[in-house]
Amino acid sequence: MHMHKLERIWLIFGTSCLVIFLTVIGVSAFYLGNKPPSCLTTVNPETVGQEKPFNEPGLHKVDGKDWEYELVFVASTFSYSPAQVEVPLGAKVKVIATTKDVIHGFEVAGTNINMMLEPGYISEYTTTFNKAGEYLIVCNEYCGAGHHLMYSKIEVVK
Ligand code: CUA
Repeated sequence: MHMHKLERIWLIFGTSCLVIFLTVIGVSAFYLGNKPPSCLTTVNPETVGQEKPFNEPGLHKVDGKDWEYELVFVASTFSYSPAQVEVPLGAKVKVIATTKDVIHGFEVAGTNINMMLEPGYISEYTTTFNKAGEYLIVCNEYCGAGHHLMYSKIEVVK
C-alpha cells in the first residue's frame, strides 16, 4: 500500500503520542497509585449528627495514622460546626466534612483546600498548616438565602 510520506509521518506521530499518553496514565495509575478522589465514603445525611466522627465535630488527635489530627466539620444551612477551631502549627491534619442538608462549599481562604460537601457523601483532604494565623472557611456553593453568612474559622496557633 502506498502512503504519502507526510501521511506516514503524521500517522507515526499520532500513534506515538497516543502510546506516550497511555503509558504516562498507566504508570501514574498502576505504578504510582494515583486515582481520582473517592466519593465512595457515604453517610446517611439524616443521622449525621449521631454517626462517628460527625457526632463530635472539631479537632481530634489520632494515633497510628499517617496524619496526627482529624478535623471534623458538619455543614448545614447556614453554618458550620464547629464555628471556630484551633489547630496547632505544623500539624498534619485530615479534614473530614459532610453536610446535613443541601450542597455546601468548603473553601479555606488562602490555602488550596476547596471541597464540595454533598449530602450523603464524605469529603476529605489531608494537609499541613505551616503558617500561623486565622483562616476563613467560606461556603462557595450557593445554598440559599443565608449563603453569604455561612463561614467558620481555623486558627493556627503555636
Ligand atoms: Cu452553604 Cu452556600
